[in-house]
Amino acid sequence: MPALKRGVGSRGRAVVVMGAMLACVATLGWRGFAADSKAAPPAVLQGRQVFVQHCSFCHGPDATGARGPDLLRSVLVAHDVDGNLIGDLVHNGRPDKGMPAQNLSEAEIRDIAAFLHWQANEALHSGHVSTDYPVERLLTGNAAAGKAFFKGAGGCAVCHSAEGDLKGIANRYAPIDLEAQMLYPRRATKTVTVTLPGGQQVEGPLVHIDDYYVALRDGAGWYRSFARSQVRVAVHDPLAAHQELLNKLTQSDVHNLFAYLMTLK
Ligand code: HEC
Ligand code: HEC
Repeated sequence: MPALKRGVGSRGRAVVVMGAMLACVATLGWRGFAADSKAAPPAVLQGRQVFVQHCSFCHGPDATGARGPDLLRSVLVAHDVDGNLIGDLVHNGRPDKGMPAQNLSEAEIRDIAAFLHWQANEALHSGHVSTDYPVERLLTGNAAAGKAFFKGAGGCAVCHSAEGDLKGIANRYAPIDLEAQMLYPRRATKTVTVTLPGGQQVEGPLVHIDDYYVALRDGAGWYRSFARSQVRVAVHDPLAAHQELLNKLTQSDVHNLFAYLMTLK
């Protein structure tokens, strides 16, 4: 992970840039953000795309909030310079609060920051951005379409079932947590297969792995660790396929699936 530029040294420059943006907005007669807007610099347009793909599901396409908070009125965003604070937050997440960690590049973070600062500036000066819609936005999906997708094209039914593992899932999580759980499940544990020099295999839940050692709990429940130089190691991540699948979903697939999962009481 590339380290992001930190510190407040560049804040002065950011203020100048913001001032320049303002002047630009004033001259062109700002009428709200449009993706094809000629007024917005390329970084803002790119940032918008990255934001829509990775963040809008929770923060709303215009960043004014949905099940996640309004980012245009966020103190953290206001104090961010070129992504220094937003980057840390996105890379670490706040998993306990429903904000997942995401592995975005430094350039993507900077573009997101440019987009958010631009949007915040626009909101500040237009007063047109409303904030009171989270509940409606949460249920914009179509449950019947979500069900069909779940059982068909979505491929979810290969691993899950509404009568089995996902039965009553809407009762197990608050809506915002259910959504986070669907997008970034955390429950699954990785397992590992260690092959000893003699060809013998030991398998079980992965306890620890680094460049030198691997540790697992074996079938009898014993903790066992091995020097990696002595063995062959294969880690199985049950979530890899789930994750790969989710990356291919469109926003409306996600909304429909969520609406469907909400019916599994
Ligand atoms: C699964 C839903 C979800 C996704 C996806 C998501 N967020 Fe969040 N985000 C949240 C929630 C919930 C919070 C509030 C956490 C808290 O209460 O501390 C949050 C908080 C934040 C905050 C802090 C706001 C503040 O003032 O404290 C920022 C900034 C932020 N998110 C940016 C992003 C960006 C940028 C992305 C995309 C790369 C993103 N989020 C993706 C749910 C999400
Ligand atoms: C290749 C297998 C696989 C596929 C396909 C798959 N998932 Fe998952 N999913 C998992 C695994 C493994 C977990 C983590 C174990 C768990 O939490 O039950 C998980 C967890 C979940 C959870 C959280 C369950 C909980 O109890 O916390 C939800 C919700 C979910 N998946 C929904 C979906 C949806 C919707 C699809 C289709 C778009 C899908 N999954 C496709 C394997 C898969």
